[in-house]
Amino acid sequence: MDEEKVDSGKRNFLKAMIVVSAGAAVAGVLKGVVSNVIAPSSGLTAFPTLTLVDSETGAPIHTSDIKVNSTKAYVYYYPLQNDPNFLIRLGDQNNNDVKVVSKQVTVPATGRVFTSAAGVGPYGSVISSSAICQHLGCVPPIIHYYTPGTPIPGHPTLVSQQQSAQNGMLTGYVHCNCHGSTYDPYNGFAVVTGPTVHPLPNTILDYDPVTDTYRAKSMVGPTIYGKPNDLSGGTPFSSGTTTTAVSKISVLS
Ligand code: FES
Repeated sequence: MDEEKVDSGKRNFLKAMIVVSAGAAVAGVLKGVVSNVIAPSSGLTAFPTLTLVDSETGAPIHTSDIKVNSTKAYVYYYPLQNDPNFLIRLGDQNNNDVKVVSKQVTVPATGRVFTSAAGVGPYGSVISSSAICQHLGCVPPIIHYYTPGTPIPGHPTLVSQQQSAQNGMLTGYVHCNCHGSTYDPYNGFAVVTGPTVHPLPNTILDYDPVTDTYRAKSMVGPTIYGKPNDLSGGTPFSSGTTTTAVSKISVLS
């Protein structure tokens, strides 16, 4: 069984759930680097299901709150209080929603393959991933989403190469300015440029079309940087909380 299937098996095996308060989660963590240390158990035995809410109002995030190709990064914490994730509504160069379908994504480090998370929402364009770089753990805003056509520092031809690969559609990237790793959010956050050899872990979202709301419910792909499994090495949300707050942060380009 390959690494990603093993990861998935572990996730499926995990049973109980402790969910938790998100207020303190949004305050910290967005500066600096996550250390790659031995990760202690959080006590969680299953992924929590957490509704995404606005960090200022506490109201559930709706599709209209997530702007297509936003120049602000939307970040929330999942599955633990110290795990930042991107929330991105992908579009083309004209800011039309782009539907994201599941793909078979290769992990360069191992050659293993996992099935990426599909986009959700009314247009299938809302996606999410860990916002911790898989190279050495840099976090937003050092790593952030570059909208379609935005030049990538140190990679002057990358945008045009991607346009060619996508049959003319100009797309964006997640790029880390620490050492130059680039990920493709339209294709499971696959590795585009190193030095990373692991895609970003995909966060699986659930969308309720009746209430137009979003929930984070699990993760697939490699484990979050520095962790033997996604539920270790951090502080769980406090028991009884069922939400996690989405913040908008400025990005450095
Ligand atoms: S930590 Fe992101 S490229 Fe090195």
